[in-house]
Amino acid sequence: MFPANTYKNRRNELKRVLESGLIFLPGNNESPRNYPAEVYKFRQDSSFLYYFGLDFPGLAGVIDIDNNEDILFGDDRELDDVVWMGPDDPLEVKAEKVGVNNTKPFVELSNALKDAKEKDRTIHYLPQYKHDLLINFEDWLGIHPSKNKAGISQELIEAVVAQRSIKTEEEVAEMEKALEISYAMNLLAMKYTKPGLLEREVYGAVEGLALGMGQGTSFPIIFSIHGETLHNQFHDNIMNDGDLALLDSGAESLMHYASDITRTFPVNGKFNDKQKAVYETVLRAETTAIEMIKPGIPFRECHLKAAQVVTEGLKDIGLMKGNVDDAVVNGAHALFFPHGLGHMIGLDTHDMEGLGENNVGYDTETKRSEQFGLAYLRFAKTMQPGHTLTVEPGCYFIPQLLDNWKSENKLAEFINYDKVEEYTGFGGIRIEDDVLVKNDGYKVLGKPIPKTIEEVEESCNS
Ligand code: GLY
Ligand code: MN
Ligand code: MN
Repeated sequence: MFPANTYKNRRNELKRVLESGLIFLPGNNESPRNYPAEVYKFRQDSSFLYYFGLDFPGLAGVIDIDNNEDILFGDDRELDDVVWMGPDDPLEVKAEKVGVNNTKPFVELSNALKDAKEKDRTIHYLPQYKHDLLINFEDWLGIHPSKNKAGISQELIEAVVAQRSIKTEEEVAEMEKALEISYAMNLLAMKYTKPGLLEREVYGAVEGLALGMGQGTSFPIIFSIHGETLHNQFHDNIMNDGDLALLDSGAESLMHYASDITRTFPVNGKFNDKQKAVYETVLRAETTAIEMIKPGIPFRECHLKAAQVVTEGLKDIGLMKGNVDDAVVNGAHALFFPHGLGHMIGLDTHDMEGLGENNVGYDTETKRSEQFGLAYLRFAKTMQPGHTLTVEPGCYFIPQLLDNWKSENKLAEFINYDKVEEYTGFGGIRIEDDVLVKNDGYKVLGKPIPKTIEEVEESCNS
């Protein structure tokens, strides 16, 4: 974990911004998988990690603004627990490491919250996503799970988003560690992928590497010869000569900071001409968008630039036609590039998505578009130094979407539907990197992972 002062300063900043009441941050609990004692791998809540740093279940943090006090509620291991799980430091000792001097048994949490409620003090809490905690809120605060949303503190959300959005050097260093793992994951996949193998064989090896080098993956791995399905979770295809494999994967550092990288490569180690042309288009869109990154520029402009580059590339290939600017304004490119350019990344892969995508990626000056494609842009607002963002354009041939648009002859002035037919079974290409916004521009985080056609082919054949 970071030094105690990091957590203390973060909590003090919250106290400064919110001014009164108390902030209630429950940690996550173990979550049963198929019976109570067999559980999913534990993952602490990211905001709890950010402010209280302790990475184990059964905790709740209270930041009492009025009394300038931080309290951790939790229990020490009893002898039975020690027999099964081994010895552990008392909570008091662990709390000190994150700058908290006040610890109390978990059972006292309920009374502390009831007392605050009776005194009509504001209890700030964030959106909840775990069902057990939603139920506990009824015990703690008398809030039925169906009414929990009504009590969420927008003031707290905004304060947390403002803080967590700006990554410090120590946080960026953690993300670089996650990217070291990503480097190894991608190189392994490129080297290991061969015609005749099941996707699952590569997927499992890549996942194992993430677990061996860090906390495991930062989201379920997407590895598929059907890259056109954006979040494909099917891994049982046999990979054939001529297929493209798309790996969208990330790792968590030991402190749970995420990476999120996509590479697309030929299963047989050599791109054919058709694949090369689309790949070069996506790569140009990615590098052009990255080069635009600097403080003061709305990320939506990078998205639209990437859309323009994709449209130009597809026009050269013969898949699109007409005026490029008009095509982008009308959203014609979204037939091939139907998602957003990227999102914030940090303790979460889609950083703070649980606090509301619009709270993170949009503001009073930046409103979400309703146009197909652009509507999926998770982050559109003006970039600031310390933001960490993914840049991940793509180009896909999604049979059902193509059929749907073609049947309506949609935006036919920009799309050569006859030519599109020739791309049946092409799949999809996405290229994704993680970028830090710096005072004077940007930095692509991590050791460069093969990305040009030459680098990718060399890596596939190594
Ligand atoms: N892995 C999902 C994404 O790239 O956003
Ligand atoms: Mn990704
Ligand atoms: Mn991503």
